[in-house]
Amino acid sequence: MVHLSASSLLLAAGILPNLALGAGLDTAAVALGKLYFGTATDNPELTDTAYVTQLNNTNDFGQITPGNSQKWDATEPTQNTFTFTNGDTIAKLAEANGQKLRCHNLVWHNQLPSWVTSGTWTNATLVAALKNHITNVVTHYKGQCYAWDVVNEALNEDGTYRTSLWYETIGEAYLPIAFATAAAADPDVKLYYNDYNIEYSGSKATAAANIVKLIQSYGVKIDGVGLQAHFIVGSTPSKSNQASTMATYTALGVEVAITELDIRMTLPSTDALLAQQSTDYSNTVGACVETEGCVGVTIWDWTDKYSWVPSTFSGQGAACPWDENYAKKPAYTGILTALGGTATATSTTTSATGGSTTSTTTTSSSTSTSTGVAAHWGQCGGSGWTGPTVCATGYTCTYSNAWYSQCL
Ligand SMILES: *[C@@H]1O[C@H](CO)[C@@H](O)[C@H](O)[C@H]1NC(C)=O
Ligand SMILES: *[C@@H]1O[C@H](CO)[C@@H](O)[C@H](O)[C@H]1NC(C)=O
Repeated sequence: MVHLSASSLLLAAGILPNLALGAGLDTAAVALGKLYFGTATDNPELTDTAYVTQLNNTNDFGQITPGNSQKWDATEPTQNTFTFTNGDTIAKLAEANGQKLRCHNLVWHNQLPSWVTSGTWTNATLVAALKNHITNVVTHYKGQCYAWDVVNEALNEDGTYRTSLWYETIGEAYLPIAFATAAAADPDVKLYYNDYNIEYSGSKATAAANIVKLIQSYGVKIDGVGLQAHFIVGSTPSKSNQASTMATYTALGVEVAITELDIRMTLPSTDALLAQQSTDYSNTVGACVETEGCVGVTIWDWTDKYSWVPSTFSGQGAACPWDENYAKKPAYTGILTALGGTATATSTTTSATGGSTTSTTTTSSSTSTSTGVAAHWGQCGGSGWTGPTVCATGYTCTYSNAWYSQCL
């Protein structure tokens, strides 16, 4: 994918084929038989109206994941006192929008309250606290979640178990105990093991498969493996390796999902890095497309503005498919193309006018069936866009880049 300047876009606009890719990422994913394309979100961002407008865009997002507000420190800050306010805000948003909710997470070594990390535990008292936490949280969200990430990141890079309070005190039995407790509280929700660097073959992926077998060996239900997919531009595993690794999990009778996809780069972002990032996104999404047992893809927030990357990895960022100003990057098109499969090259009557900041773009396509009006902040044009091209009264369809015009 070449990052076209505005002027070269204008020259090209009349002759580019219209890739009839559907109206958005979730629409395309569902058309392929996937359950969803979705994004993580977090409570502080929900005060940003422009952010929420796109989060609400169910053409792109058929699923959301609360980034933090269902974690242990958020839900049980004091022993046996449960706080669901923030998690409920996101669960209710998903319900109101008709978006699936991936619930995240129940047992992790991180983001634990001090009563857990500083407590004095025996095996029996820690198992009791673990079961009480899982039972209360899963029961509260019963019927609202598509899936729970039951255990998160139990493994070291070499495939041994991570040293954690859970492993040190309970041993590997904490895994089947956690899954059995979650299954008892909500028999219908999908139960996942979720980790990073298990998207490609190697010791850690083998160990993740062994966790599935361990849980099954206890006669306990596990439904899925979540592949976080926190990747680096230019060094993501190949599509075929990702697909064959997914196959090692699905061969055990579980489904898989990409649960936290983002692909970071060393800043500053350049056209070459953005083009490589688009290819990298396309390969990971494409591996899921190829894998029948891969049910969906979740990105770890959709805009660079609220990405966790810059504060975690010094000097890195620009990991999401939308930039910090909410403009679509080439990665968006990479994902959409991977989800589109059979893009049909129909000739189009696209016309584009305008230039840098104040100009407008109007796009009409011979395959467009849309007659709607886009609201303030809504999308009103861009390559492959088949939605409304007219803005509500008082707003102007403003060219942002080749992939995105917005009603401002
Ligand atoms: C987002 O969706 C929720 C639920 O459907 C709705 O209440 C809210 O007004 C929407 N917000 C924006 C900014 O579109
Ligand atoms: C802790 O107790 C559980 C049963 O609740 C058992 O399965 C596990 O092996 C015990 N762990 C240790 C280290 O004794």
